[in-house]
Amino acid sequence: MIELFNIKKSFGIQEVLKGITLSIPKGKTTVVLGRSGCGKSVLLKVILRLLPLDEGQIIIGGVDTSNFSDSEMMPIRRKIGMLFQSSALFDSMTVWQNVAYPLLENTKLSFDEIDKRVMALLDFVELPEAAEKLPGALSGGMKKRVALARALIAQPEYIFYDEPTTGLDPITASKINLLIKRTQNEYGTTSVVVTHDMVSALTVGDFFAFIHDGKIAFTGNRNEVLKSSAKEMQDFIADAEPREILQEFLNIK
Ligand SMILES: Nc1ncnc2c1ncn2[C@@H]1O[C@H](COP(=O)(O)OP(=O)(O)O)[C@@H](O)[C@H]1O
Ligand SMILES: [Mg+2]
Repeated sequence: MIELFNIKKSFGIQEVLKGITLSIPKGKTTVVLGRSGCGKSVLLKVILRLLPLDEGQIIIGGVDTSNFSDSEMMPIRRKIGMLFQSSALFDSMTVWQNVAYPLLENTKLSFDEIDKRVMALLDFVELPEAAEKLPGALSGGMKKRVALARALIAQPEYIFYDEPTTGLDPITASKINLLIKRTQNEYGTTSVVVTHDMVSALTVGDFFAFIHDGKIAFTGNRNEVLKSSAKEMQDFIADAEPREILQEFLNIK
């Protein structure tokens, strides 16, 4: 699991994270909700230490990484697959090369073994025919699926999804949601999904945390999210989606 204690992060005089305390349970999907600009992406980047941590404690799988240097973070980062909001594929590499990249860089596996794993994951994300294509030839949803395959290739214990459905049409978004659930079921990874898409959140999430004003304003399960009396979160939900649509998620396991 991942434990965060009183995480603080500022940019100049702008305090973004003002003391985030959160436990992210093993083998489950935790959804971090919050309005655009509240610091969701910053939180993921601070955990990965792609941004420096100002204050607080981060414990990943029992290891306190709070004071880790960049080189000490390397083996930790390898345990965490990250799906960036932009997909962040290498435009000049084929889909196969993009997905193979983490193994080519960090392992001495044979070409045949790498090819086997890449093609198995492209099957998993239902894009085996795209192996030789360049990212420029793919739709937004296809790019996300390739990025997911790349995030999974090194068999990470954790996977972070940053806005996995943002900018996608509802049908493509629901395919991505399904893939996130299948990833959870088949690989048993500990997942963190950061989103402001409530339908996606309620589809994939086991636990929910809502960031407001730099702090966690609410944590709970699906029913607790929808029934919560926390005002900021209710306002957020009301703005996100018509109530009737979300109501369908009540009591769904
Ligand atoms: N590298 C950075 N330098 C300065 N400000 C940043 C940086 N990254 C994020 N911010 C600011 O931090 C705030 C939170 O950003 P972000 O985490 O991206 O929000 P979101 O919740 O939408 O993901 C925003 O005001 C953003 O402008
Ligand atoms: Mg973001």
